[in-house]
Amino acid sequence: MVSVVHTLRQHADELSGCAFSAALLATCSADKTLRVYSTADFSELPFSPLSGHGYGVHCCRFSSCGRHLLSCSTDGSVVVWSSDTGEAAAVLQHPGRSPLRVCALAPDSSLLLAGASDGTLALWDFPCKTLRRCSAVSEASVVACCFSPCGQFFVTGCTNGDLKLWDVDFSLLLAERDAHDLGVACCSSAPHLGLDGCCVEFRLASCGQDSQLKIWIVSQREGAGRKLPGHFRPLVADWSEEDVQTWLHEEGLEELVGIFKANNIDGPELSQLDKETAAELGIESVGLRGRLLRKTEALKSEQSDSEVPDEFMCPITTELMKDPVIAADGYSYERESIETWIRGKNKTSPMTNLALQTTLLTPNRSLKMAITRWKSSQ
Ligand SMILES: *[C@@H]1O[C@H](CO)[C@@H](O)[C@H](O)[C@H]1NC(C)=O
Repeated sequence: MVSVVHTLRQHADELSGCAFSAALLATCSADKTLRVYSTADFSELPFSPLSGHGYGVHCCRFSSCGRHLLSCSTDGSVVVWSSDTGEAAAVLQHPGRSPLRVCALAPDSSLLLAGASDGTLALWDFPCKTLRRCSAVSEASVVACCFSPCGQFFVTGCTNGDLKLWDVDFSLLLAERDAHDLGVACCSSAPHLGLDGCCVEFRLASCGQDSQLKIWIVSQREGAGRKLPGHFRPLVADWSEEDVQTWLHEEGLEELVGIFKANNIDGPELSQLDKETAAELGIESVGLRGRLLRKTEALKSEQSDSEVPDEFMCPITTELMKDPVIAADGYSYERESIETWIRGKNKTSPMTNLALQTTLLTPNRSLKMAITRWKSSQ
């Protein structure tokens, strides 16, 4: 049996979302506000409504501890509110100012995600409120997202019907095309995490415009994303002899290090390696030669379809930079987009949200050269 105990009518326009914490219920609306109620008697709290967004609010969520309430809006920002006082503790801007449709906080409140109408997803470090990354994840609007219960993965759902599983470095792990005809509307993961050998498993519910709710079992090897050592590994063509030797060690081919050293094999030579040249090197074992060639092929194909390295993309436009410049916050941006940003009313860093001490821009020549080299290698 179901019976209505309360009907709340305070919002002046369409309601777009609601969320519970242990003590509170929050709602958000196209009327640009959030309202907060006590779950004891559904009375509205004295500091409610919360205003601050410039346009309609699409989504609201509590942190697991209940201390923070998050909201995101067509105005391109996520506001972090204190659940105790209703004060806005932080405002995080999407670097491209794109309307935000959905936000989610990791179970341990370490990361914050927001999905945008332009198909990008922004990921912030929640404790220090700095942008970690903003990348395109779809051609369609991102309207649904949630973290896995372990916080290592997240799921996105889009208006073209796709559901995708990512790791927190934005490596795409799984994609379910047309999960919902006409588009995904929302998704949520169950709090229980299963462990089966080295796989983590959790249940996901997705709702769609096709009037269906689907329950999925998502199974993923832990730490399955390609983890390259350090920040970004150069292309094989730029490898030194030492890089090649390090790679041999990592691939379990240490017995070849001596031969490679003696023949001064560097990256360009490694990428030219074939059956004949491998035989010429004096690698006696056919099995070992075969393993070397297979690993070399795998390495080349892995790198040839490699995506644009993060640091080559402008954090504002998420496009490959042509004329990268360093701003006062120490981050590099495409000249045109950061100039437009600074000319606007914002004198804050698009990455850290802190005030920019100066509007001076310095060309990042080494980055520009690296981008040119990378482009010619593609
Ligand atoms: C140039 O950009 C790269 C990549 O973002 C960065 O690592 C480097 O520190 C920048 N150079 C300077 C002088 O800031």
